[in-house]
Amino acid sequence: MRVVLIGPPGSGKGTQAHLLEERQGMRRISTGDLLRDAVSNDTPAGREAGPLIKTGKYVSDKLVNDVVADLFRSPDRPTKFVTDGYPRTLAQAEAFTILLLEEGLDLDAVVQLVIPDSIVLQRLCGRWSCSAVDCGAIYNENGNRSKVAGVCDRCGSALYQRNDDRTDIIQDRLEVFHSTTDPLIEHYRRLGILREVSALDSKEVVHQKILQAANHRQAG
Ligand code: AP5
Ligand code: MG
Repeated sequence: MRVVLIGPPGSGKGTQAHLLEERQGMRRISTGDLLRDAVSNDTPAGREAGPLIKTGKYVSDKLVNDVVADLFRSPDRPTKFVTDGYPRTLAQAEAFTILLLEEGLDLDAVVQLVIPDSIVLQRLCGRWSCSAVDCGAIYNENGNRSKVAGVCDRCGSALYQRNDDRTDIIQDRLEVFHSTTDPLIEHYRRLGILREVSALDSKEVVHQKILQAANHRQAG
């Protein structure tokens, strides 16, 4: 299966991408995680991305397209995957469509996770993320807590609160999302693979709906 997840900050893209990775063996491609990793390792990409992520702005299309193209052109390129937070702009969607064509891969579904901004704020203020890059598990103090406070259930690493999860930065991230998403959605609507899923249901229900959306195309 090959699925793109589109949705505002806090809509559950990362949570759902982890479930698809664990249960369906799909490779999780999170541009947010890849960029945060680059920031921690102080790479050239990380130095460009760091100040933008911190203030809730998008990284340039070129940088993020290059990061994704490098993955798909590597010897262990993903063939079953879920993208979490890529593409986010029309320019990224067009570049990704060309990349997939070159690689002989097509998408089963583009799932738009739909959620009101007010719920996003609640969710992100309570989010805790695993600090281990190869884990990245996601928790919430209002309902999806780790067994031991501040410690990841899966790998035992420390949990942290992201520095872009401050209320003012969340507002900025939401504004950027709303101002760039319409053309992206329209692009995928025209390709006939866009599916809307409410992000307000439990994570299990959302997971099932994403699978239905992807299987619908595979069966068709
Ligand atoms: P990124 O890391 O992708 O952040 P984001 O898009 O703001 O999304 P989040 O990670 O905040 O939310 P999420 O949808 O993954 O929700 P989660 O599953 O954690 O990007 C960060 C930055 O990197 C960007 O701002 C930008 O600067 C840069 N960047 C990345 N990609 C880029 C690109 N393509 N182009 C340009 N720049 C790019 O869930 C949130 C919380 O809700 C958690 O606590 C979770 O436990 C809880 N939750 C999840 N699902 C449910 C549910 N169903 N019910 C109740 N609670 C739930
Ligand atoms: Mg995320």
